[in-house]
Amino acid sequence: MKEKRSIIIDTDPGIDDAVAIGIALFSEKLDVKLITTVAGNVGIDIVTNNALKLLRFFGKDVPVAKGCAAALIEPREDASQVHGASGMDGYDFDPPKTELLLKEHAVNAMYRTIMENSEKTTLVPIGPLTNIAILLKLYPEVKEKIDEIVLMGGTLNRGNKGVMSEFNIALDPEAAKIVFSSKLKIVMAGLDVGLKALILPEVSEKVKTLNKTGDMFYALFKKYRGGSFQTGLKMYDSCAIAYLLKPEMYKLTETFVGIELNGSMTRGATLVDLRNYLKEEPNATVCEDIDAEMFKSWFIESVSSCI
Ligand code: RIB
Ligand code: CA
Repeated sequence: MKEKRSIIIDTDPGIDDAVAIGIALFSEKLDVKLITTVAGNVGIDIVTNNALKLLRFFGKDVPVAKGCAAALIEPREDASQVHGASGMDGYDFDPPKTELLLKEHAVNAMYRTIMENSEKTTLVPIGPLTNIAILLKLYPEVKEKIDEIVLMGGTLNRGNKGVMSEFNIALDPEAAKIVFSSKLKIVMAGLDVGLKALILPEVSEKVKTLNKTGDMFYALFKKYRGGSFQTGLKMYDSCAIAYLLKPEMYKLTETFVGIELNGSMTRGATLVDLRNYLKEEPNATVCEDIDAEMFKSWFIESVSSCI
């Protein structure tokens, strides 16, 4: 059987993060070497404990390293109105598995894990890009051992944090600028596909009956405000995992993605330059569209592989 793909998930759990992490942990094609946390949906201590709670729930002993508590420049904000104050409202998890928490900072843990890996590693950021940016600045030699960066973030159209800016990018635009200027292979799964990767009520009801993971996801879905239970829940972060496992569900376009840093009303916007107005070399593969039916069946199949 083909070797599993080594990945590091950088995350801010976060209800949609929890779903993405669960799917990744039980995929036969992925080897989750490390989970690093970053302040985003809620504060760094809560997201770190949430990652540790999820690993106890899933029974997976993946090391966790705590990352940055704030962006490089941008003042701290959160999305507790979407995920609840706990970051994962709706389900009463057992305590965090603190023995999995490394003493190293996330950036150093990522560096060590990547350099020790005999294979290249894929980075899967599904929160703000602060840790990734610092990794690339502090240890530029690590780029040789990174296969690609497959991230949830950005948007071709309207935003969910600002008029034109998506939450993960908008929380740390400077970090995003560093990552998108890194010349590494980047895949961007933005809001556009997340808005179509909807979990409608019949899918939530189906998932609930599959296993204890589905039952937990259902409880989280009842509190998740990324969309609505009745009109469809947006599985943003799972879109990054879906690219790793079933890229054929996407319409992919190589293009230049610029990060707006100075716009008084557009800071944090991702300028996806499909018509090459900016005359820049492509720096990303953008998920322009998604086959929603293919996502739905992949999602159900993936959750059924969990415990
Ligand atoms: O804009 C959606 C992104 O912001 C997702 O990663 C969600 O978890 C939040 O972090
Ligand atoms: Ca997230």
